[in-house]
Amino acid sequence: MKMPCSISIFGLGYVGLTFSVCFASKGFKVIGVDVDLIKIKNIERGIPPFYEPQLKEYLSKALQKNTFTCTNDYFQAILSSDISFICVGTPAKSNESLDLSHVKSVSRNIGEALRKKKDYHLIVVRSTVTPGTTEHVIKRMVEDLSGKTCGIDFGLCMNPEFLREGTAIYDVLHPDRIIIGEFDKKSGDILENIYREFYGEKTPPILRTSLTNAELIKYANNAFLATKISFINEMANICQKTSGADITVIARALGLDHRINPKFLGAGLGWGGSCFPKDLNALIKYAESIGYNPVLLKAVNEVNSLQPYKAIELARELIGDLKGKRIAILGLSFKPNTDDMRNAVSIKIINELLKEGAKVVAYDPAAIKNAMKIFGDRIEFTFSALECIKDCDCCIVVTEWEEFKRLNPDDFIANMKNPAIVDGRRIFDPKKFSLKLKYKTIGLSL
Ligand code: UGA
Repeated sequence: MKMPCSISIFGLGYVGLTFSVCFASKGFKVIGVDVDLIKIKNIERGIPPFYEPQLKEYLSKALQKNTFTCTNDYFQAILSSDISFICVGTPAKSNESLDLSHVKSVSRNIGEALRKKKDYHLIVVRSTVTPGTTEHVIKRMVEDLSGKTCGIDFGLCMNPEFLREGTAIYDVLHPDRIIIGEFDKKSGDILENIYREFYGEKTPPILRTSLTNAELIKYANNAFLATKISFINEMANICQKTSGADITVIARALGLDHRINPKFLGAGLGWGGSCFPKDLNALIKYAESIGYNPVLLKAVNEVNSLQPYKAIELARELIGDLKGKRIAILGLSFKPNTDDMRNAVSIKIINELLKEGAKVVAYDPAAIKNAMKIFGDRIEFTFSALECIKDCDCCIVVTEWEEFKRLNPDDFIANMKNPAIVDGRRIFDPKKFSLKLKYKTIGLSL
């Protein structure tokens, strides 16, 4: 069989679109498929549907090169490609299990199209799905609707992604490793060859395994990272009550142990986003469904659910009762370099402040539009950090955007009514700040 180099990618969200433009930029012929026609029109005009560093540049490069096209015609996309990547979202349902409706609808489309296709086709699942879904839901649907047999007429891989929002392009181009869960050897060989062609000499280690292991690796990865953060936040809360202790020094020391490594030991107000909360809950739900009580994962969740309230606690220590106080919030998105507000800790903090009768004024370099959909006119929005802190009684740093790191104590003294700062992400030098104004931060008893 010839090396497949024409690919269709189903779902043009964070995973699908970044993956598409990176592959297209290296000369692969990529057809992006989505059901949202407005999204498709905008992408065709070079406008990404969300903010992500470098994405616009990569998109326009791919469009200029003519290697990337978009369509809602799944049928045509499958017939004119050799391999389809399923990158649609698997959001949480209200009972915290996974909503597989998008995955099922794409599987149905692929099955219907394959009925009419003579050539072999490889299906690669990149969406995050619980163990067994690739084989028992996706494979079954495609076989039923196509009338074809997996391992003979079409191939199947589960290939989890590990990109982070805010560094998505970098992560696609520089992965630590590639995990290929394969139904059969032929499927895995084809996908491995594609990645070897894409990365060339820089191909990272490739681990080939079963579909189920690949599904679980994704969950284990996110659960482990979330555990690291909840662990360091718990240590930070212990430091907070221990005279002379500082979590940043402890985290640095831990990170120097090669068995631990320094990443994801940044203490703060907890983790948010579309992945950790959803994946941890789905893993807990899955474990319970097979008769296992995942006590550690539940504790990781619990530490995280309480962590945002540390900001309120510290604000109260600085300025007392929050009723009627004007509080500035610096940073709304769940992490820097994204406009994503999904499960952002800012939501919990702001809702609590409003409940306590405070007036909230907020600024974020990218997420204001999305935050407006959540808060409406319940809070004020500003267009710069300095405007945000103006005349405030307290400022809480919620997201560690680079531009906030450049603020110095005099900026706060000159603009705030009462210069008091809760540094929720350890972005300022406590010595410098606490000398000049009221300052509290996570993991340091001051
Ligand atoms: C996460 C994983 O890091 C990716 O590998 C994975 O592909 C992705 O989920 C996914 O499943 O799609 P993401 O949610 O984009 O990526 O962002 P992270 O950089 O992992 O940050 C998650 C949260 O942890 C953020 O709220 C961040 O502020 C918080 N965090 C991160 C900390 O509080 N401390 C740290 O040291 C690091």
